[in-house]
Amino acid sequence: MPIVNRFHDLAEEITAWRRDIHQNPEILYEVTRTAAFVAEQLRAFGVDSVETGVGRTGVVGVIKGRGTSRHVIGLRADMDALPMTENTGAPWASKVPGKMHACGHDGHTAMLLGAAKYLADTRNFDGTVVVIFQPAEEGGAGAKAMIDDGLITRYGIERVFGMHNLPGMPVGTFGIRPGAMMASADRLRISVEGVGGHAARPHLSRDPIVAASAIVMAAQTIVSRNADPLEAAVLSVTMFNAGSADNIIPQKAELRGTVRTLKPEMRDIMETRLAEVVAQVGAAYGVRAELEYRRDYPVTVNDEVEAHHAADIAARVVGEQNVTRNIVPTMGGEDFSFMLNTVPGAFIFAGVGENVANLHNEAYDFNDELIPVGCSYWATLVETTLPRAA
Ligand code: NI
Repeated sequence: MPIVNRFHDLAEEITAWRRDIHQNPEILYEVTRTAAFVAEQLRAFGVDSVETGVGRTGVVGVIKGRGTSRHVIGLRADMDALPMTENTGAPWASKVPGKMHACGHDGHTAMLLGAAKYLADTRNFDGTVVVIFQPAEEGGAGAKAMIDDGLITRYGIERVFGMHNLPGMPVGTFGIRPGAMMASADRLRISVEGVGGHAARPHLSRDPIVAASAIVMAAQTIVSRNADPLEAAVLSVTMFNAGSADNIIPQKAELRGTVRTLKPEMRDIMETRLAEVVAQVGAAYGVRAELEYRRDYPVTVNDEVEAHHAADIAARVVGEQNVTRNIVPTMGGEDFSFMLNTVPGAFIFAGVGENVANLHNEAYDFNDELIPVGCSYWATLVETTLPRAA
């Protein structure tokens, strides 16, 4: 089963939705216009039920197939944009300064809507499909909010599937792997308080800048000295804020950054060692140093069986030679991980073109050529996972 023919016919309409969403980007949980559009379309398709306001602004549609199967699968798309200014020059470029769809969630939403339209129309499956449109993937844990709101239990979802576009891979290719596919993403904030004073008389102060600098350097040894060299870990300090003048040693300094790992054990090591380094280095410099470590997104772990299943589906759509079944994991984070921690499932990368700008770049624009491929993946996944009796 290659590209589902219906999607060649629907591509123009789905592209128009995608560009409309693109022009009107909304961030985090503020995706009210997008959610209203999604709900309105789902109702127009004649799906069996539509619920809004799940996890604050998420939308859930239910499509029942023909037959008696009680099996339920969930398909998930994210709706939110990013707080950055677009620089694509596209006719459908963002109309909102400081907000843009730089991660292709506009495309994800449009493709899942397209699949929902096809599935509601054809119902060539036996069981129930729950289409999930979530807010706040970018740093707001919208997937967790929907789960906390009862998404999985209320709809009886047994398996869940997600897809993300990936620049650098041609359209018509997919990449996936069993096990860890994307990293855990945690935030760190380190406050260092010393004693401020005149820069000419350092002996009368406790310099938080020197102490914080030592903490940054010592923290770099956690990856090189405490982490197993065969396991992945990243610790990046990305903000260093302190001071107000050339001749003042400040009272405080603040560091912020991110920690990424591919295994829960590594995540524990990073958190434990960082707390020790912060406290002990701070003590060595005579300042008070405190770590606030916030666990944000867990590791995105594909179920073994479901990852093979998803790869088989992708191979049906684009051919086995176009599916990488053991793609290298990325250290990016993804809140679909919360869903995969709740029920088995799989997250897959869909190539969006080799000449498409990187995700989160101001020049990025979702490539609409992916629409028939992505929609076909969803439709084929449903018709294969929930087959009608022969
Ligand atoms: Ni994304």
